[in-house]
Amino acid sequence: MALVLGIESSCDETAAALVTHDRRIVAQKIASQDEAHAPYGGVVPEIAARAHAERLAPMIAAVLEEADVSLADCDAIAATAGPGLIGGVMVGLVSAKALAMASDTPLIAINHLEGHALSPRLADPELEFPYLLLLVSGGHCQILRVEGVGQYRRLATTIDDALGEAFDKTAKILGLGFPGGPAVEKLALEGDPQAVPLPRPLVGSGEPHFSFAGLKSAVLRAKDSGKYGDADIAASFQRAAIDCVTDRLRMAVRDHGGCPALVVAGGVAANASVRGALTDLAASYDMRFVAPPVPLCTDNAAMIAWAGCERLGQKGFAGDPLDIPARPRWPLDPDAEPVRGAGVKA
Ligand code: KG4
Ligand code: ZN
Repeated sequence: MALVLGIESSCDETAAALVTHDRRIVAQKIASQDEAHAPYGGVVPEIAARAHAERLAPMIAAVLEEADVSLADCDAIAATAGPGLIGGVMVGLVSAKALAMASDTPLIAINHLEGHALSPRLADPELEFPYLLLLVSGGHCQILRVEGVGQYRRLATTIDDALGEAFDKTAKILGLGFPGGPAVEKLALEGDPQAVPLPRPLVGSGEPHFSFAGLKSAVLRAKDSGKYGDADIAASFQRAAIDCVTDRLRMAVRDHGGCPALVVAGGVAANASVRGALTDLAASYDMRFVAPPVPLCTDNAAMIAWAGCERLGQKGFAGDPLDIPARPRWPLDPDAEPVRGAGVKA
């Protein structure tokens, strides 16, 4: 049975995990750097890279020890090779290359977005291709048709901010600190989602994409007006963001139907209101709704190891070359049409 070591270091989580191809997470560890970045209100790339460099090797050793296996027992070593903060990605990828070389084990360079995209299959053995995926994280907001391992068709993306970024900026405006998404979700529970009139950018538009920059500016104006309480702003923001997401998904289902399952992945998939709205949406189209358990939504190494298992299972695949580069940008669907305002999030 294939056993894959996974390494994740593309943003502010250092993580290592061992996963089998029959979906068992044998061991995993994750260290967040929230405290190191909190004073700056966001992730500082150099601080992140230095923290990965300090923590990753002992973490890998601890994961192997916990599972009572050695590198020689692993069938492959999978590491995030992009997209992400390049310093951190290099720490993880170069570590994986060194371990692969030393143990004569295949290296698998994983696209972090592919890790998120396939993560729902780690938790749900019944989830088959194709599925319609909403991938919502701090850096990305996309709708994809996942047709198979390595086969991702991007149907929509954001023309400005990602959804997680909009949550983080709203948190900053409301003085909720970092990371922002969970804090906005918590405060929203105490507010009225109808209290603050906020825009729903691109809702009803004939193009399939997302836009959240105008919503964030409206949140800032609402706060500056002094007319609304923070909880009402948080709740109204979350409601507006969810309305945008469900509208864009309705368009995707209408224009690219035929998938039996609606799936969500990425950090924002941890949000209970988002999950609730998508559950209702899927039911209204007779689609199955699949969301990974919350710890698999935010960045982790089990999803990278699992993506490695999926790649390893592909016919003829024997590993990636040792000179494969770390990539700060790496679109999942390189053939996707560029969007208006291109140059932003691919
Ligand atoms: O996937 P992820 O851990 O890292 C990236 O690949 O970006 O996603 C992190 C993003 C952050 O913007 C964070 O604020 C958001 O996911 N997030 C949430 C929640 N938990 C994390 N957003 C809304 N509600 C949450 N509960
Ligand atoms: Zn991520």
